[in-house]
Amino acid sequence: MKVLIVGSGGREHAIAASVAKSPKVTKIYCAPGNAGIGQIAECVPIGAMEFDKITAFAKENAIDLTIVGMDDPLVGGLIDCLEAEDLRAFGPRKNAAILEGSKAFSKDLMKKYGIPTAAYENFDNPEEALKYLETAKFPIVLKADGLALGKGVLICNTLEEAQEGVRSIMTDKKFGTAGNRMVIEEFMTGREVSVLSFVDGKTIQTMTSAQDHKRAQDGDQGLNTGGMGTFSPSPFYTKEVDEFCQKYIYQATVDAMAAEGRPFKGIIFFGLMLTEDGPKVLEYNARFGDPEAQVVLPRMKNDLVEVVEACIDGRLDQIDLQFEDNAAVCVVLASEGYPVSYQKGFPIKGLDSFDGKEGYYCFHAGTALNEKGEIVTNGGRVLGITAKGATLKEARANAYKATEWVSFENKYMRHDIGKAIDEA
Ligand code: AMP
Ligand code: GLY
Repeated sequence: MKVLIVGSGGREHAIAASVAKSPKVTKIYCAPGNAGIGQIAECVPIGAMEFDKITAFAKENAIDLTIVGMDDPLVGGLIDCLEAEDLRAFGPRKNAAILEGSKAFSKDLMKKYGIPTAAYENFDNPEEALKYLETAKFPIVLKADGLALGKGVLICNTLEEAQEGVRSIMTDKKFGTAGNRMVIEEFMTGREVSVLSFVDGKTIQTMTSAQDHKRAQDGDQGLNTGGMGTFSPSPFYTKEVDEFCQKYIYQATVDAMAAEGRPFKGIIFFGLMLTEDGPKVLEYNARFGDPEAQVVLPRMKNDLVEVVEACIDGRLDQIDLQFEDNAAVCVVLASEGYPVSYQKGFPIKGLDSFDGKEGYYCFHAGTALNEKGEIVTNGGRVLGITAKGATLKEARANAYKATEWVSFENKYMRHDIGKAIDEA
């Protein structure tokens, strides 16, 4: 089988590494990919939003399966374009990817189908939003409706902050058209957990849990980022929590989408908050998380391609999804200054230290080859250093040990990824 993966980050490297293990696969392409993905796949210089070029490439090269890792092309309808040409593709169609593409849609869906989430109101114009705030309780959460690179959520402690937030989202359009609508919702407290799942339109099978660290600095200080590290499983995701979510959240979401005439096939990523009143949905994503995929996929025992094909064909109920009884931790090596401004183009040394080391992974996020053929830094998040261990503590120690194997100028990382584990 020939597989095409769309995307260029650490998540896509993790997907490519899993696909490469499948005995069914003879060739992997990635559009556009990165230097690490280029070691196991042929990277083609096509951007993830160039739907016509991706579709033409898949046709010309007789691609048997295209896996779309990123949110923007999914929400934009890349799966529909591929399917229109009778190409097999994994991911939700545009009418289902709206689960991530519009927060107002997902909140209304949860309300309509009784899926636990924070209380909220949707707004189409800033005046009404500002009026609503006058009688609201603080802190309060403002969310731009559309995709905003994970940055469209503002937690406001005072009325003044919230008024400023509404203006920046809806009037000044800080997040572009994503701010044409917005959600204002109740602030929740508790542990956050991510649960990824495979969905075939009617059946859902959840993967092992994970937890992300979104803030840039130790102690959850600093700005929000795409994710500075993850661990899996989350010790806070207990059997009881799982039972609750299986009963009231997971299947309910899949059934709700089907009932709305928007059957969901692909990955649903449930961002959950474990509140005192039980687990509630913070957000849905329509794809693997980045860097959640980096700790979840290496622990999966199944052939990823087999599971993906079962989703496409609507026979996920026949798959026995299994994960290793161990743990994994991913520490992101970033460029100092991320997520604001940073320099790139620095050579990365020590990458071959990972060769032949079972249970250690160096997933590339922002890397490229320079004209001398060296692998250099090419983004804010550069590498996702991942290690497994019998326990979370062991995985954490292994991952931090492996962060020392690689070096580049302005290398930056958090030192407390998975530290919450110690408190569990
Ligand atoms: P989202 O993109 O919706 O996951 O929001 C980004 C982050 O904002 C989440 O991971 C939470 O840490 C935080 N957040 C979002 N919604 C809420 C809420 N209702 N209460 C408290 N924190 C929230
Ligand atoms: N790590 C969070 C996300 O992928 O959205």
